[in-house]
Amino acid sequence: MDPSTVLGPDVHVDQWHDDLPPPRSDLLARVSLADGLVALLTERVDIELLDAAPSLRVVANHAVGVDNVDVAACTARGIWVTNTPDAVTESTADLTWALILAVARRIGEGERLVRAGLFKAWTPTLLLGLELRGATLGIVGLGRIGEAVARRARGFGMHVLHTTSLGGVPLEQLLATSDVVTLHCPLTAATRHLIDARRLAQMKRGALLINTSRGPVVDEAALVRALESGHLAGAGLDVFENEPQVHPGLLAREDVVLIPHLGSATHATRAQMATMALTDAARVLRGEPPHHPVNEVRP
Ligand code: DGY
Repeated sequence: MDPSTVLGPDVHVDQWHDDLPPPRSDLLARVSLADGLVALLTERVDIELLDAAPSLRVVANHAVGVDNVDVAACTARGIWVTNTPDAVTESTADLTWALILAVARRIGEGERLVRAGLFKAWTPTLLLGLELRGATLGIVGLGRIGEAVARRARGFGMHVLHTTSLGGVPLEQLLATSDVVTLHCPLTAATRHLIDARRLAQMKRGALLINTSRGPVVDEAALVRALESGHLAGAGLDVFENEPQVHPGLLAREDVVLIPHLGSATHATRAQMATMALTDAARVLRGEPPHHPVNEVRP
């Protein structure tokens, strides 16, 4: 997308065209005169960057998650932070279900087996998985995406539990009773390593863990141990604790499905995210409040 179609002809655009993120030094140099920054989740918008960008008035994050942005520091400097809620909801819920199905029905293992020429015959015991109908899905974080995941669960005939004050259950109860646990909370200080060794031990033996939220919500080393011990039967991960690195203990396992942060990766969603981020950047630059603010900035 040409950003000028949304920003208008009067805004000078300095666009990074490479698909991979800019080196930090380039980014810091290029924000020095910027009034607005459309940032991806790979860009750390921290004090160092804010110091390098004294004219900045808006950080329009091209993501719903804003854990890459020091929101408090932006607020203290009168800089708006915006995100792209709604745009990512349905595509991320779809992808979550792709992972649930892939792990429950052992799609990755089956695909590798076929490609390796090891499919010799249909047998009654080949790659048996979890039947979803009648099983319990535990949703940690019933926000927009969690709700969209819950809606789809009805079609699969699953019982749904969730952790919120509105009719939800405590996390311990959800973990102890769910056959599939799926994570949909934002990454904050409170949710970093929310799913640690203790929480994993509280999960039902043989359960599956799905994460399409943020990698650091799960203690990956503890997850590897829970899989190795056989306590968990599998995991589906779209996000990683030290993205893009993946714990070697996960790479080595057959019972996990690993994909590269694809939650919102559809043509329609990515176009909508870009339009939303650019629109809010343009609004702030024109002196209007953004449509999707994450913080409150006083004039
Ligand atoms: C988000 O929006 O936070 C996703 O992780 C990327 O689309």
